[in-house]
Amino acid sequence: MQARQPAPSANRRGFLVRLIQTVHVGIGATLAFVVGGAVVAPSFTRRAVRWLPAGRLPQLQDGVPVPVTLRVARPDGASEVVERRLVYLVKSGDGVRALDSTCTHLGCRTKYNTETRQIECPCHGGVYDTQGNVVSGPPPSPLQSVPTRIEDGQVLVQV
Ligand code: FES
Repeated sequence: MQARQPAPSANRRGFLVRLIQTVHVGIGATLAFVVGGAVVAPSFTRRAVRWLPAGRLPQLQDGVPVPVTLRVARPDGASEVVERRLVYLVKSGDGVRALDSTCTHLGCRTKYNTETRQIECPCHGGVYDTQGNVVSGPPPSPLQSVPTRIEDGQVLVQV
């Protein structure tokens, strides 16, 4: 008696099922690698903290915001990305604060008005005092503070 051979269509069906399963495993592994890498990689990438000179403390007046443009260069693969960041230095006694000039409403760049002695946003009329607190308009929060330190009268701003 001869053993019964599976029909050719059953062999073909089994092969296709294994092929589809292999493709699914490959897609799943690729997705896990890409998504997992995107989630985990930032925790391994440490952004270097840098301090840039922004001005000399004796040259600042108490309570008067002085706009300073910082040139921040960061490596980006084989090239470099240069970002310009405007901060206000506000002296208070022997200390100094740095305020990010970006409006907390929708991100427009603010400007210090020497006549009104307020920091104003041209986009929707947001107004801040010289300490960055909201005076009026739509901004939901004060201007963001940027860490500073003083070395030999030189004001350094963390970027
Ligand atoms: S972006 Fe500044 S008030 Fe709207």
